[in-house]
Amino acid sequence: MPTPNLTVLDHPLVEHKLSLMREKTTETAKFRLLLREISLLLAYEVLRDLKLHDVEIETPMETMVARKLEGKKLCFVSILRAGNGLMEGMLDLVPSARVAHVGMYRDAKTLEPVEYYFKVPEGLEERLCVVVDPMLATGNSAIAGVERIKQAGARDIKFVCLLAAPEGIEAFSKAHPDVPIYTAALDRELNDHAYILPGLGDAGDRMYGTK
Ligand code: URA
Repeated sequence: MPTPNLTVLDHPLVEHKLSLMREKTTETAKFRLLLREISLLLAYEVLRDLKLHDVEIETPMETMVARKLEGKKLCFVSILRAGNGLMEGMLDLVPSARVAHVGMYRDAKTLEPVEYYFKVPEGLEERLCVVVDPMLATGNSAIAGVERIKQAGARDIKFVCLLAAPEGIEAFSKAHPDVPIYTAALDRELNDHAYILPGLGDAGDRMYGTK
């Protein structure tokens, strides 16, 4: 079933770098670097509709009316821990953005998200909140994370991941039909342990070498 609020950002550079990330022989440092590079490319697309306004500036040659970002405040919301890999690259592109951290882990038995940390900047209601989590598998953590920032006031929200499973897309769009989803790839399915197939394994473990 088509999901109207799903965008698959299938740029050749993204696809190439993602293929390198998927390979099991790609080591931790390279994996992290690739994730950072992809996050820049994703941010470029996801933030395409940021508003600009006219400002008068002086070039070395003359005065001109140029355009700069209007200044709608931005907040990147990292779903810990793997969200940090996407968030840091995006922060390189928009260094003035605020950052929120939502700590969620997946209970191994129930697969339900358990919150262990929540810290967000003030004024979420005025900000565009870009929630990042590389793997949209069951969608449980992403759904709970978005729910928490809505409770804290966020209204204008986008969700960005690297890989998504159809199960996660369906659950997320049912829970948050108002939140557009951006992903670099839509994979086939989840396995019995809720890992994405073909996927890339555990994103957090591969980023931090914890396996
Ligand atoms: N989280 C991961 O890191 N990988 C998956 O495949 C699913 C959830």
